[in-house]
Amino acid sequence: MKKAGVKKLGVKKAGVNAETARPALRKVAVANLSEKQAATELKALAVEIAQHDAAYHGEDAPTITDAAYDSLCKRNDAIEKRFPGLKRADSPSKKVGAAPAAGFKKVRHTVPMLSLGNAFTDDDVTDFAERISRFLDLDADAAVEMTTEPKIDGLSFSARYDNGRLAVAATRGDGAEGEDITANLRTIKDLPDFLMGDVPKLIEIRGEVYMTKADFAALNAAQGAKGAKIFANPRNAAAGSLRQIDPAITAARPLHAFTYGWGDVKGMDWETQWDFLQSLKAWGFVVNPRTRLCKSVADMLKEYRELGEDRANLPYDIDGMVYKVNRLDLQRRLGFVSKAPRWAIAHKYSAERAETIVENIEVQVGRTGALTPVARLKPVNVGGVVVSNATLHNEDEIARKDIRAGDSVVIQRAGDVIPQVIEVVMNKRPRDSKPYRFPDTCPACGSLAVREEGEVARRCTGGLICPAQAVERLKHFVSRNAFDIEGIGEKNITGFFEDKLIESPADLFTLERRGGRAKLTAREGWAEKSIDNLFAAIEQRRAISLERLIYALGIRQIGQATARLLAQAYGSFDAWRQAMVAAKDSEIYRELINIEQIGESVADDVLAFFAEKHNRAILEALAKELNVADFEQPDASGSPIAGKTVVFTGTLEAMSRGEAKARAQSLGATVASSVSRKTDLVVAGPGAGSKLKEAAALGVKVLSEQEYLALIGGK
Ligand code: IVH
Repeated sequence: MKKAGVKKLGVKKAGVNAETARPALRKVAVANLSEKQAATELKALAVEIAQHDAAYHGEDAPTITDAAYDSLCKRNDAIEKRFPGLKRADSPSKKVGAAPAAGFKKVRHTVPMLSLGNAFTDDDVTDFAERISRFLDLDADAAVEMTTEPKIDGLSFSARYDNGRLAVAATRGDGAEGEDITANLRTIKDLPDFLMGDVPKLIEIRGEVYMTKADFAALNAAQGAKGAKIFANPRNAAAGSLRQIDPAITAARPLHAFTYGWGDVKGMDWETQWDFLQSLKAWGFVVNPRTRLCKSVADMLKEYRELGEDRANLPYDIDGMVYKVNRLDLQRRLGFVSKAPRWAIAHKYSAERAETIVENIEVQVGRTGALTPVARLKPVNVGGVVVSNATLHNEDEIARKDIRAGDSVVIQRAGDVIPQVIEVVMNKRPRDSKPYRFPDTCPACGSLAVREEGEVARRCTGGLICPAQAVERLKHFVSRNAFDIEGIGEKNITGFFEDKLIESPADLFTLERRGGRAKLTAREGWAEKSIDNLFAAIEQRRAISLERLIYALGIRQIGQATARLLAQAYGSFDAWRQAMVAAKDSEIYRELINIEQIGESVADDVLAFFAEKHNRAILEALAKELNVADFEQPDASGSPIAGKTVVFTGTLEAMSRGEAKARAQSLGATVASSVSRKTDLVVAGPGAGSKLKEAAALGVKVLSEQEYLALIGGK
């Protein structure tokens, strides 16, 4: 086995990380939160969880451990339970996974593909069984039979068979809508095209596509030899292999599938999950051989432990055991709570650990100049995957754990997440070891690296002269959620930058005119066809949406959600650019911080970006090359408040403030916190004060809550 997967440790890829996001609030017990604090935190949680979801599902590159992710979701649920009125339209408790990536046809799941609740301890499993008994009103000691199924760490799919014939297959996507991967799934031998024996009129089969650890290692070795993408782990390799536009590539990748469930079904019925699993086998599917039927919680836990002991020797990655109530009539009675069934749970295994040596500590420079330390490790096998890098997060983390070059350390790999250093094995520390000193200059450009108060990251102050930042910004610019230019990988960007082929974003669009074809031909690995493809991909991206463009610029704190808010608020590229060169004491600045969810710190980062002459020149150059589409209101067609700026004031009675804002935003309105000339509508409840006066002075339309509700109707 070769290579530890993670090449570039983009720890802060999602823009926010668990440590930096509102830590002060997180420490307040849910029971002690005020309504205002709860709303603030739910908002932050929605953004943060959505970013982790995108990293996990969309980019196949997770940024957080399962347990940390789970604790964010739990906190979100607990706050929503205490303040049901604050539940947001974009609440993570309503979502499963991430929205589909562009490029594939979308498929709506007739029956949504849901997720599972997690259990981490034996007590959690006992609680699960007791909840079920209570819900079904059974005697506490009346055992409910359950199946135990290994939880495969792969990619879930749904495959519809019409009269026994494979018709359509899709990824899970956001649970409601996935990507059409029919052609790709057909190439997987574990999945029959035609079912054998007695078949229902229609059935959607659900299961998990995976790659074995051995195949993953061989694939990475081959990819490495070709200079192609190295996958972080078998799950990412399976995801990357399945998400190929060309099914011939999928066919060449060694993918397998286990099946365990169904969605829609017509013309057949079962009494138990176990019976259903037997049907799957009879039709020609593969059911995991470690699946068992258990009569008690004790039996289930025994299976869990035995599987856990064999885990490292299994040919594929698992991350838990799934328990399911066997009787389907009971499953139906139990039903679902928000996005997960009451009748099933995933009992997770803790992350796999191993000991190795820190050979060196290196510092990487991110697109906003943040310095991220990385441990280069003596390669070590952790549960079947060879790891040679681990993230060290930031300088405080190194100091807290006192990690030094030469130390023996315990590292942990949790399924998909970037490996972490858990602790130093102190009694193995070399005698001459010295504490690590975090550099105070940038390793890429030598500029001073400073740490501002309240920040965890030290940042390079080199800004535009720092080549590392420039390269990272370019990588961000072409990345999937930004310009999404196929054919330009991270490696190319670095090479192009070093050879001065592309030094700033607009250079991409002038590359062909600047004799790029000849220059690329002269480079190794660029055949005529791939050059054609690259230029075609670039041409296609000359037309771009405003929100993508804003996001692509990589301005500090401007993630996808904020980019969208800005696009919505300003409408067009020109309007946005003109507004953003405003002075800090101007009306326009006040408008900017008045947009809900933007605030001063974000606004300052945007203005700082525009204050830089070089950045304005980049925008100027991009404006010449691109055709930036004005912001398009999302299916708010027929919405009477689409494109309007709304301010809520006073006490609302029919709904909480949080719900009112969320609903207005989903109807295409911008919600602002104070009244200005830009305000179109003020919704005033009892107790409204100064804002009402301001509205009157500015001649802004004012509606009561009832009038407002009548205006938006049942929307
Ligand atoms: S049942 C409503 N069974 O785990 C029931 N899921 O965390 C939903 N998974 O989305 C799923 N092995 O991708 C189920 N034996 C198994 C599974 C399994 C792996 C995955 C699946 C699901 C995720 C939920």
